[in-house]
Amino acid sequence: MSIYSRFTGTGSYFPPKIMTNDDIAKFLDTSDEWIVTRTGIKQRHVAEDESCSDMAAEAGKKALEMAGLQSNQLDAIIVATLSPDTIMPSTACRVQYKLGAKTCMAFDIAAACSGFLYGVRVADGMIRSGSAKNILVIGAEHLTACVDWRDRSTCILFGDGAGAAVVSADTAPGIKSIFNYADGEYGELLKQDNLGSQYLKKMINEPAVDHMIQMKGNDVFKIAVRAMADAAQEAADAAGFSSDQIDWMIPHQANLRIIDAAAKRLGLDKEKVIINLTNYGNTSAATIPTALDQAVRDGRIQRGHNVVSAAFGGGLTWGSMAFTF
Ligand code: UT7
Repeated sequence: MSIYSRFTGTGSYFPPKIMTNDDIAKFLDTSDEWIVTRTGIKQRHVAEDESCSDMAAEAGKKALEMAGLQSNQLDAIIVATLSPDTIMPSTACRVQYKLGAKTCMAFDIAAACSGFLYGVRVADGMIRSGSAKNILVIGAEHLTACVDWRDRSTCILFGDGAGAAVVSADTAPGIKSIFNYADGEYGELLKQDNLGSQYLKKMINEPAVDHMIQMKGNDVFKIAVRAMADAAQEAADAAGFSSDQIDWMIPHQANLRIIDAAAKRLGLDKEKVIINLTNYGNTSAATIPTALDQAVRDGRIQRGHNVVSAAFGGGLTWGSMAFTF
């Protein structure tokens, strides 16, 4: 009998502190009008006391609860992040300790905003090969510690938070297609010449520019529009989902204009697109799992619904997935 994988639980966590566009306009030459028009973002959540691994563990706990699993039943924990607490130990090892999932395999994935889809691909492969039954995949970011708050072209975009999903073995296919790509030639377009977020947090008042996220937004935008739309179409085709069979699209949340283009390519109405960018900003690897969890918990996504997801980010990396929830 073939083994497949499906999502059995989801969870998310956002820090309570909110920073609106008007809050940013108090210390930077920008406006709510510019940010909303160009990106769709109205506010973002900002971690104060929480680290990336704290947020990841909270989201993971909720996903485990929904899946009806104890942490010691996990075979692996995969954390996708570009803002780990530290480079070593990995954020996944910190989460494993915080969840009490002693000795299960734990590692981070560095694929920026596409990281959650990379993580699900690895989990799906491990489950199909029979080497795991339950894997916790988390996308978690503490990006407000990694942006240059003097650079209005990037700092307005990002927010903090974590989303998680339990991927479990099943006899029926939940995850039906998944694709991941990268093109390192364009790595310079979106980069962080790097240190861990906990270190960067201490430097927040005296940021060294080359430690912070830098982006040639306009160049990234042009590549992202096409890559996200192509990838979304590829996942839908491979899963055999025609436009009218797709119940929901969960795109990476970087910019409403990029999302609109991807949804248009799939022939989807705006009401079928799950958006959380407006209230949370771009939370990179956390955008897809947080949007998934919110839509599952508020009843929009239900068991049996067909969902297509696509992401794009630094690396450059991109990817897509189609699944029946
Ligand atoms: O998640 C990872 C993948 N990332 C993405 O997919 C992001 C892709 N890029 C984007 O979403 C957009 O490029 C941005 C939202 C980052 C920028 O929007 P844009 O329409 O591409 O603006 P731009 O960079 O071409 O800048 C246009 C103008 C410039 O002024 P001048 O040179 O025309 O006078 C900027 O200096 O807007 C100015 N500007 C701002 N003005 C007010 C840039 N940032 C701001 C700001 N407030 N925050």
